[in-house]
Amino acid sequence: MIYEGLSDNYTELLHAAKEAMTRAYVPYSNFQVGAALLDDEGHIHYGCNVENAAYGPTNCAERTALFRAVADGKRPGQFQAIAVIGSTDGPIAPCGVCRQVLVELCSPDMPVIMGNLSGQWSISTVSSILPGAFTPASLDNRER
Ligand code: THU
Repeated sequence: MIYEGLSDNYTELLHAAKEAMTRAYVPYSNFQVGAALLDDEGHIHYGCNVENAAYGPTNCAERTALFRAVADGKRPGQFQAIAVIGSTDGPIAPCGVCRQVLVELCSPDMPVIMGNLSGQWSISTVSSILPGAFTPASLDNRER
């Protein structure tokens, strides 16, 4: 798949997300999503959505990648970019919960690359996809 105008490294990350997408466990929605999170050492952490018969416990692809990376020893600030892909009309839009988790674990200016299977893509940053977020600093700066 060609993502016209997208840099080679982000195209590669979207392709990694596409690979992760094939591993999705989606018996209920039948809607596969893949994510690929690039860390500061150049390693890619893969994520796919994992659904559940109780629906609520479903984990999105983005959070799967982020939580896996933390479990593998990565810490906030040690991520360079995340790519997300799904079979949406335009580039996929991460859900609100995943945006909140991105704000927690990634730098505000970290690129978020969103794509679909027909070559469409868009790029944004963590802070711009969740304006006015409640952040770790919100807890430090509370009124006492
Ligand atoms: N989903 C993701 O994994 N990431 C997104 O950005 C949007 C939604 C999943 C959750 C659920 O398994 C399926 O897509 C339908 O909502």
